[in-house]
Amino acid sequence: MQAIFYLGWSGYRLGVSVAALVGRDLVSLLDFDRRELETIFRTADKMQHFTRKCGGQLKNYVMATIFFEPSTRTRLSFETSMHRLGGSVIGFAEPGVSSVAKGETLADTIRMVESYADVIVLRHKIEGSAKFAAEIAGVPVLNGGDGSQHHPSQTLTDLYTIRKEFGEIDGRKILLLGDLQHTRSASSLAYGLGHYKGITMFLVSPQNLRMRPEITDYLDNSGVKYVEGEDPANFISQADVIYVTRLQKERFQDQKQAEALKGSYTLTRDLLERSPKDAIVLHHLPRIEEIPLEVDYTSKARYFQQAANGVPVRMAFLYLSIYHSKYHPVKNLEPRSTTSEMRRCANSNCISNQPREPITPALKEVTSKGEHVLQCQYCGRYTKE
Ligand code: NCD
Repeated sequence: MQAIFYLGWSGYRLGVSVAALVGRDLVSLLDFDRRELETIFRTADKMQHFTRKCGGQLKNYVMATIFFEPSTRTRLSFETSMHRLGGSVIGFAEPGVSSVAKGETLADTIRMVESYADVIVLRHKIEGSAKFAAEIAGVPVLNGGDGSQHHPSQTLTDLYTIRKEFGEIDGRKILLLGDLQHTRSASSLAYGLGHYKGITMFLVSPQNLRMRPEITDYLDNSGVKYVEGEDPANFISQADVIYVTRLQKERFQDQKQAEALKGSYTLTRDLLERSPKDAIVLHHLPRIEEIPLEVDYTSKARYFQQAANGVPVRMAFLYLSIYHSKYHPVKNLEPRSTTSEMRRCANSNCISNQPREPITPALKEVTSKGEHVLQCQYCGRYTKE
């Protein structure tokens, strides 16, 4: 439906279809189309005017942030966004202070919190947790990051920053540097870029930190051109955007391997000088040593502006998703049909492998490089037959 959308204050008016976003979860960039992304970005443009002055549109609405992993930017920018829109915030930033420390399941936690809040922002190390929470909750669930899989609010921020800097996302050449295997901002960005035309990605990482096959298959299927490599010097002269990621050492099973990879990629000022004049440097932050301080003093650094863009973007999604949404009271769960013979996802860090959660494994047969594989519908990973 093409609706005329009034942001409801100061006469700002957008001629965009917003109805499709009412009540929507934000689990993955795969759940949105290009038009919906544009609606979010155009709303974020309007929200730029209100990041310092409260507009009051979400007065009497409550947002819960339940974070099971550390966070600075994601939690604080969601909370700032809700406050700037006049709403209230409840939640915890440390599971040790909630009943999770007593052994409460994620499902039970969600079923409690949905009756207190109009929207839930969840961060969890278990992959597929946000998708599972969204299936249970009667209010929108916004994924603040699930393991190494998705980080959609970060990607909306990244795409918005690229759009703002270059006027459009189509046709951009993006060099993605670092730990591409474990960084959720990297996989999520790849899913987001799949919605645009003429994209080229240079996927540069140490050999054992390459992007996972479910993501490169997605790039193939979406018409995104990509080249994999190990030396950023081979690609940097062609890049519009140099997106650097942190080595996600907490996601390695073997800490010695993480230690050995420390310092294996760095965007030095010398290296950056080989990039085009108008290139920009992004990073999801926190950066550790992969971007030295000297880069902050170049005209190409944009990572702090990128983090700042996280507020209007999250304001936009909160507004679009919950302003007109209706609360669906706590549902009784459907009976499950799990048997011990059922094929399970091979990823022990997947929500479908958590024995106390009321979940049925869901594997779908797909083809990857001519081979049949099973893909988990929760964590997205492949399980060989
Ligand atoms: C990241 C995260 O937690 O995914 N930070 C963020 O949300 N901006 C990245 C990281 O921890 O490296």
